[in-house]
This record gives sequence, structure tokens and C-alpha cells, in this order.
Amino acid sequence: MLAGGAGTRLFPLSRVSSKQLQPVYDKPMIYYPLATLMSAGIREIHLITTPNDLPAFREALGDGRQWGVELSYGVQPAPGGIAQAVVIGESFIGDEPFTLVLGDNIFHGPIGLDDEVATFDRGAVIWGYPVDDPQRYGVIEIDQAGAVLSIEEKPDHPRSDLAVPGLYVYDGTAVSRAKDLQPSARGELEITDLNLSFLNDGELRAVKLGRDITWLDSGTHESLLDSSNFIAAIEKRQGLKVACLEEVAFHMGFVSAREIAQTIETMPGSPYRTYCERSILG
Ligand code: TTP
Repeated sequence: MLAGGAGTRLFPLSRVSSKQLQPVYDKPMIYYPLATLMSAGIREIHLITTPNDLPAFREALGDGRQWGVELSYGVQPAPGGIAQAVVIGESFIGDEPFTLVLGDNIFHGPIGLDDEVATFDRGAVIWGYPVDDPQRYGVIEIDQAGAVLSIEEKPDHPRSDLAVPGLYVYDGTAVSRAKDLQPSARGELEITDLNLSFLNDGELRAVKLGRDITWLDSGTHESLLDSSNFIAAIEKRQGLKVACLEEVAFHMGFVSAREIAQTIETMPGSPYRTYCERSILG
């Protein structure tokens, strides 16, 4: 899970706190991608952030025990690109397959990560999501079977409307591939170049997300507000919370009712605590 970056566009909010710890309605932003991983059955999680923000993440998330996951931390000294996370995470990754999620990406709906993780064999899997403004993103063209035909970073003339969200599943070769990348003109190891390395070897597949899925990134003031409004609207309508990590952990069987009750005991009186008591303890 990558939660570094400069957060330039969120200035001056990002002066006070990491982008990924900013509130998205009723929780820190990082809860949402964490819930995405946990809901797919992923329990070993390595969070990479800046040296400055590391203490705040440790304070907010701890070692993950309360949610039945193992949370460890890595540091990216400067924002050298998303693919640099793969190099920094080398000792965590070893040569095992892994999932990379960006800490400011929010997914809502059945994205199929659980199936991809369960059946993953080799190569790389990315997702494609139809957007109105593909020129702002990595853009893919795919065939009927999900094979990727092309991938371009922020193209002036996109070949499709499918943007690549910040969610990727890679086999262990990603580490050596990332090490071989050259920094781009903006001085970063680009995730699109890592994906191209898999594409050039015929090892890149994409899952197309339909309109039943919502994908938001929360890197600007406007998208941060949109994300908060989106989550608020769903939660108020359903009376259910999105990305309540205690609830996800319990439903996934990562923790027992007794363990979650102990965690809830430590929470201050709050609507969040009341929700956990009602939804988990009944
Ligand atoms: P971006 O939104 O592309 O960059 P940023 O977070 O630095 O923000 P800004 O453009 O406003 O300066 O990053 C996408 C995600 O990837 C975000 O969760 C931060 C993370 N990231 C890193 O952790 N390290 C990096 O080197 C980069 C480029 C991004």
C-alpha cells in the first residue's frame, strides 16, 4: 500500500497531515484501500510512506493486530514514483505475488480482487475503468479476452476511455523489472513503464470494471469533497458503513467476536463505536 507522495495539489491541507490520512467523510482516507485489500483476503500488508508521515500512520493503524492483519511499514525518502514502491518493498515482497494499491484510491462495489488474488498465477493484472477524462490517466486498450493491446501514460489522444486505477497485482518478477526501469522525464519510476515491461512480455491482463463500480481518487480538493459526499450519501441511505475495518475484519473471519469486542472497548464514545457495537456485536 503506497501512501507517500508530495500531495502538492492538496496544499495547504497536506501541510498539516498526509493526504492519505485526510478525512473521507467519517474515516481517514487510508481506511478505504485497506478495506479493499482486507476484503480480498489479504492479511500481510506493507505500508510505504514518507519519513515525516510514518509516525502518524503508526499511530493511526498500529501493527494491524486489531483487524487480524500484519501491518508493517516502509519508507520512501522522496517521491520517486509509484514503481519505486516495488523496489522499496523488496524484502517484504520476496519473490511472491503481491497486490499494490494506492492510498488515495477508493473502490466501491465488486471489483473482483478476491478472485484475481485467489486464481493468480503469473504476470500482472491491472484494471480498466471508463472515465470521462482519460487524458489525465494511464489509458489501456483491451481485447474481448482482457488482453492488453496498448497502455499509454496521459495520452493527448486516448485510444479508449479506460483509465488504469491504482490497483495492480504482480508476480515476483516485478521487483527486478522495477529495478531495471529508467526514471521518466519527471524523474520518477513510472508504474506505466512497469506495466509496459509485463505487456512487452505478453504477461499483462486487464479486468474491465463496469458501471456498477465506483472508483474515486481523492488527490484534489474537489475529488476529496466528492469522495466524502459519495461515502456520506451511501452510508446515510443504507445505514451501513463503507470500509469500517472492524466490520470487514470480523466478516472476513480475521478476528473473533471476543477480539473485536475488546477493540471496541478501547474506542471513545462515538457514532463509529455505536455502529461497530450494533453491526458486529448485534
Ligand atoms: P499522485 O497523486 O500522482 O501524487 P501525489 O500524491 O504526490 O500528489 P500531488 O500530485 O498532488 O503532488 O500519487 C498517487 C498516489 O501514489 C498517492 O497515494 C501517493 C502515492 N505516491 C507515492 O507514495 N510515492 C510517489 O513517489 C508518488 C509519485 C506517488
